[in-house]
Amino acid sequence: MVLDPNREDLVVGVIGTGAMGRGIMQVAAQGGMRVVAYDEKAGAADAAIEQIAQALNGLVDKGRLAKAEADTAIARISVAEGIPQVAASANVIVEAIVERLDVKQSLFETLDELTKEDCILASNTSSLPITAIAARCKHPERVAGLHFFNPVPLMKLVEVVPGLKTASWVTEALTVIARRMTRVPVVCKDSPGFIVNHIGRAYVPEAARIVAEGIAEPADIDLIMTDAVGMRMGPFTLLDLIGADVSVSVMESLWNQFYCEPMYAPHPILKARVSGGLYGRKTGAGWYTYEDGKRLEPPRPELPTARSSTVWVSPRHAAACAKATTLLQRLGAIIEDSDRPSANALCIVTPTSGDCASEIVQQELDPKRTVALDTSFNFEKHRTVMVPPGIDPAMRDAAHGLFGSDGAGVSVINDSPGFVAPRIVAHIINIGCQIAQQKIASPADIDLGAKLGLSYPFGPLEWGDHLGTSWVLEVLEELERFYNEPRYRPSPWLKRRAWLDLSLTTPDGRG
Ligand code: NAI
Repeated sequence: MVLDPNREDLVVGVIGTGAMGRGIMQVAAQGGMRVVAYDEKAGAADAAIEQIAQALNGLVDKGRLAKAEADTAIARISVAEGIPQVAASANVIVEAIVERLDVKQSLFETLDELTKEDCILASNTSSLPITAIAARCKHPERVAGLHFFNPVPLMKLVEVVPGLKTASWVTEALTVIARRMTRVPVVCKDSPGFIVNHIGRAYVPEAARIVAEGIAEPADIDLIMTDAVGMRMGPFTLLDLIGADVSVSVMESLWNQFYCEPMYAPHPILKARVSGGLYGRKTGAGWYTYEDGKRLEPPRPELPTARSSTVWVSPRHAAACAKATTLLQRLGAIIEDSDRPSANALCIVTPTSGDCASEIVQQELDPKRTVALDTSFNFEKHRTVMVPPGIDPAMRDAAHGLFGSDGAGVSVINDSPGFVAPRIVAHIINIGCQIAQQKIASPADIDLGAKLGLSYPFGPLEWGDHLGTSWVLEVLEELERFYNEPRYRPSPWLKRRAWLDLSLTTPDGRG
């Protein structure tokens, strides 16, 4: 006995009508399905309907929804007096109650006893294994994850998560029902963090390591990642928005669930801030300071008035050298075209594959007057200039002045293998590759998850293709060699595709 997910009279039960349950009720009703909702807190389900009505009527006022459509959607939702009433009328029940395994297990055990065999039981859990939630059910084959994102009406993505015992008809039916709710479903294995929270383990922790190592300031990293890379939000702005308390516990949970996999390791500087109550926006202080909910922009270092006039660009990386030379010509610098720099010229190197400035300098140049420019990402709006130890401060400031002379932002950072942007982006791509390698989701769903769930400009696999798989591999190999840490070891998925010059979306030979 299997459910027809297309049946017109399909009824969605929602248990737990808080932030998530309320959103799920709304999209189900807007998708044309009847909704029966229950919350153990008296009056909570009615309050949720009231809030949905307000949200929909707000859209009507803005001219984005017809009044009749809003009214019909609201009329489709009713409140159940108890769980038996939800169980008796729903074809699919989505649970969005408190995130505790024992409480969810007991609810699913009850639902399993009260419902017909073709009723699908879905959990909106973010962090608990679906297989464990289904463990006490007699029919675990009809239990699956249906993981929505907050705020539900605005976030189109839904992860459909079959547990180890889930029947394939259940997964298929949930993808159909998610589409009926106007969502975009992606399917993934019952694995810690599913797709989106798994990919998300790269961004903030790697940025935190860069700060902890004294390479760059948080505000600089935020600017580099938004203005040069194209991320919608910098990692520290994001951390302050979500709250360090919530973020760090998700990081620790995922890291622990993967038995301390170094790729996902959170950094102790994050934990220290949680202990100090520096959560971010909600406590008025995090990486930034807030007043009345508004961020006080930290002052940027002043652009030095000095400008280097004569520069020499290392020809070591031809394409990057050409990009830097074109920029420097535009900035009005005098560019030496000799094999070696003259005695007083500012020397510019353009490491492309994760090498430090110091490593290049030691072979051929004077550390007192050499800086590195990151040419890997867009440098029209924001530029990263990396300086080795021993730089002459006057040379450093004159390089800063030159690179900022057309109004572009400049971040002067300490030496790092892979500057800021290449190492963070390579880490994101590598974790995307690990997800593909473990067959947690298809390459297409991994990319969709990152774009719709995290608002990244590219999915990790298409990003790797766009930047060049060999380049990503080189950056990671250099990071691994430099730090001698398995955190940066390249995923087998990436290595093979880079060696064979194949797209990162290419499936394995046997699928
Ligand atoms: P919430 O605290 O806003 O709402 C939970 C609701 O469930 C409350 O109204 C509560 O009264 C009710 N409830 C608790 N235990 C119940 C029970 N045994 N029976 C009936 N009702 C019960 O929580 P929120 O944020 O909506 O989260 C719900 C679930 O969704 C959790 O599993 C959470 O991990 C997951 N989730 C949350 C996201 C978020 O950003 N808030 C994102 C994705 C998933």
